[in-house]
Amino acid sequence: MLVGSLLMSATGTHILESLSLWGELQSDPTKMVYAELFRCYPELESLFVMDTDGGVRGSMLQQAFECIVDYVGDNELASSLITTSRILHEGYGVPDGIFAEFFVVIYRTCRLALAQDFTDAMESEWNELLKAFKGLS
Ligand code: HEM
Repeated sequence: MLVGSLLMSATGTHILESLSLWGELQSDPTKMVYAELFRCYPELESLFVMDTDGGVRGSMLQQAFECIVDYVGDNELASSLITTSRILHEGYGVPDGIFAEFFVVIYRTCRLALAQDFTDAMESEWNELLKAFKGLS
């Protein structure tokens, strides 16, 4: 039982489950994620004025999801992608220390969407991932 739960935690099963449930509830979470981002950091909205068709916002969210799924899986790409992307974002005018907050916003939006179905096991895995991503950026 203990070994089982350690394995579950090591493979990020609960994070994947939260994402899968979220996907069932909302086929496109983009609007909700950016609404949460701009609610928390209103000053960031002006950085996206050139993104008139939402393409940049969509690609950003897509890449962030890829990092999460890779990290809890093989973890082949996430670490280097986060480190290099964070440096690129300095040139986009993203304030220091804010880059990895996008992952916190994704987690928070997922938790909001799942409401009472967001479990303690999901919470604890997400917290570990967010700590690790913060350390990389
Ligand atoms: C709150 C944190 C973040 C802010 C404010 C932010 C802001 C931006 C902005 C303003 C751009 C457009 C740059 C331009 O074309 O001039 C951009 C592009 C991009 N961002 Fe972020 N970013 C954040 C976090 C992230 C994270 C965590 C990832 C993924 C790990 C990411 C991935 C990307 C990608 C892939 C693009 C290029 C999209 C494209 O041009 O198609 N961003 N970001």
